[in-house]
Amino acid sequence: MVLISIFLIIIIYLHPISAVKCPSCIDICINTTSTSLSINESYCDLIIESAAVCKSELYVELIDTYPAVINYITAPSNALITGNADSVLVTTINIPLDIGNPYGSFIYDCYDEDLCNNKIVQKQYEELHVVNYTELTIKLTELLYNNQSISKRQPIECYNRNNQIEQCSINRNCQATLIIEQGRSDLLITTSISDRRPGSLVGLRLRSKSVGNDYKKITISYTCNKNRCNDPVIVRQIRQIFFDIGFINSKANSLKFLSIILFITCLIINICTRFMSY
Ligand SMILES: *[C@@H]1O[C@H](CO)[C@@H](O)[C@H](O)[C@H]1NC(C)=O
Ligand SMILES: *[C@@H]1O[C@H](CO)[C@@H](O)[C@H](O)[C@H]1NC(C)=O
Ligand SMILES: *[C@@H]1O[C@H](CO)[C@@H](O)[C@H](O)[C@H]1NC(C)=O
Ligand SMILES: *[C@@H]1O[C@H](CO)[C@@H](O)[C@H](O)[C@H]1NC(C)=O
Repeated sequence: MVLISIFLIIIIYLHPISAVKCPSCIDICINTTSTSLSINESYCDLIIESAAVCKSELYVELIDTYPAVINYITAPSNALITGNADSVLVTTINIPLDIGNPYGSFIYDCYDEDLCNNKIVQKQYEELHVVNYTELTIKLTELLYNNQSISKRQPIECYNRNNQIEQCSINRNCQATLIIEQGRSDLLITTSISDRRPGSLVGLRLRSKSVGNDYKKITISYTCNKNRCNDPVIVRQIRQIFFDIGFINSKANSLKFLSIILFITCLIINICTRFMSY
């Protein structure tokens, strides 16, 4: 009983019940041709006085000139707060290269001050908005996309999980995932993937997750249908493209291949199972 009380006191001490003011706005139309995110306040006059978390979600088309819809949501109080009460911002940019247009989303959770979500979402929107996505799409297309119809295409070679070149069957595309964390080596995973899926088959997704001011992790993941398009050299070129437009702020340091880690893990498991079977 005493232990439980102490435990409870520690929990309450670690997670003071915060209460912040959050705007609650639903389905606001914004004009994506203007560079700043001007929100018509008349939609937002409902302010929740005692929310635990201010949660904002914004989805935007990045090339269309049509007005987009912005959706502000405030999560009511009983959301679980973990970590050091740091706000979390997740930005995702999708750039399909075969069909469709680029689009992005921001999801922001904060609880450190009243109306904490307004400025950050606005700033992110502005940073995203200055990029010329037509130009970006052209650059990525050159490296990753072969627009020939499937019947005319030759089977391609891809780097596999062991970072070795492998001949793929006609219906497979190459894939690469690059993980960039501050102060660490980049991590690269290469593989191939079947293209019998609905929707866009060739394209790139960049996902950036920031926690407070200190931690940031960026994951670039793409599927491509050009020969050896998940070559580490091409992955580096793509990293440089996003560095140049300011989406990545750390220069490329050394590159680690996950396959090495996987290989060592397999080796250890292998040795262990052999050892155990004796
Ligand atoms: C959007 O803004 C641009 C310039 O700021 C303007 O020319 C255009 O008419 C606006 N579109 C709509 C639908 O409000
Ligand atoms: C905000 O939206 C309301 C309702 O649609 C409209 O009457 C008002 O003029 C808008 N205000 C601005 C500044 O655009
Ligand atoms: C974006 O890039 C394209 C292709 O390079 C160019 O034609 C267009 O003028 C650029 N748009 C802006 C607003 O700079
Ligand atoms: C494929 O791309 C080339 C230029 O790279 C263009 O001339 C051609 O029209 C495109 N074909 C299709 C089917 O989009």
